[in-house]
Amino acid sequence: MEIHLIAAARPNFMKIAPLYHALKAEKSLKPVVVHTGQHYDLNMSDVFFEDLGLPAPDIHLGVGSGSHAEQTGQVMMAYEKVLLQEKPDMVIVVGDVNSTVACTMAAAKINYHSNNAPKPAKNELSAISYKLGRPLVAHLEAGLRSFDRTMPEEINRLVTDALADILWTPSPDGDENLANEGVAPEKVQRVGNIMIDSLEMMRAKIERQAACADLDLEPQKFGLVTLHRPSNVDSAAKLKQLCRSLIDISKHTPLAFPIHPRTRKNAEGLGLLSDLEKADNLLILDPLNYVRFMNLVFNCRFALTDSGGIQEETSYLGIPCITLRPNTERPITITQGTNRLCELDDLTATVDSVLNEISRKKCQIAQWDGKTAKRVVKSIKGFFG
Ligand code: UD1
Repeated sequence: MEIHLIAAARPNFMKIAPLYHALKAEKSLKPVVVHTGQHYDLNMSDVFFEDLGLPAPDIHLGVGSGSHAEQTGQVMMAYEKVLLQEKPDMVIVVGDVNSTVACTMAAAKINYHSNNAPKPAKNELSAISYKLGRPLVAHLEAGLRSFDRTMPEEINRLVTDALADILWTPSPDGDENLANEGVAPEKVQRVGNIMIDSLEMMRAKIERQAACADLDLEPQKFGLVTLHRPSNVDSAAKLKQLCRSLIDISKHTPLAFPIHPRTRKNAEGLGLLSDLEKADNLLILDPLNYVRFMNLVFNCRFALTDSGGIQEETSYLGIPCITLRPNTERPITITQGTNRLCELDDLTATVDSVLNEISRKKCQIAQWDGKTAKRVVKSIKGFFG
């Protein structure tokens, strides 16, 4: 059975790595890594493959940047050709990036028996994909909702979950959201959080890193910043205010800020990057590899972010997280984790209050335990009998 694992952007790589390794260990399953090329810089893509022990992608679509419609359309066009050629039995998409929805749409609409496809022999495909005339589509990290349709990722989540045949959720709120949208319960299986599998898989290497010493940061005394959402960094007024706040905070608490290409480009364009770089205790870094970045997460006093994954990783590790967004698709990180939402106007006050709290509480979230990939493999075997 051939299973395509779709990898596209930085947050996808740590979701497919544990799954790739678990599938590879099964004789009857053949994982094939498909990289769409949505993220293409060495430090946004290749270093993660290296860190997480992933092989070079079997198939590379080489799509690159573009507007949402361009990027989504290009991935669909390129992946449709691959589907007709390779005829996988299953396609697994993860997360909520443009490539997630694009590959889902391409796979859900393909017809292996159509006139422009070389007709498959019965024994080339599993009984299910032969009958369907297409691969089964499974979404890992299904059911998350911010209920904010101004976020491109929310549109990607809604469309992906509407089309996927199998929906693997990380937490009960995911199950509930899908039930409210009328998804048949037999399609939904709660498997837990795959990001935690990567973290546990790499824990020894992460702990051995000396990122703090190299960067002259004192463990537990600095804040770790990552910001890249269009809602925070695409508006000039907001980005200016954000940079001012970071400079203010850094006057009393050192900050490490591995800067996303989108944020760098916008800050540079507005002449803000040099202000950030000039601030004494504000360390502007290039994007880091997984192991080095996670070493900073393990050792920071708090994280300030608008990323999805970091809300989860800090909750798991018991590290305070300030999420600079009006909503989150991961509410369990607030109710059972260490996360809190924050408006830009309240940022400096929120950092002050976090600094006055006693940090590190034990993670309470069920199935965030490093065993999600195993549960996914069990689920796949169940579907294919
Ligand atoms: C994408 C995902 C987002 C995810 C984020 C993690 C969508 C809609 N968004 O956002 O969900 O949290 O990745 O990073 O899919 N760029 C580079 N080098 C790269 C990649 C991108 O320079 O390797 C530049 C692009 O040219 C573009 C900008 O960064 O100008 C944004 O890239 P894009 O993939 O559109 O969205 P992200 O903001 O990275």
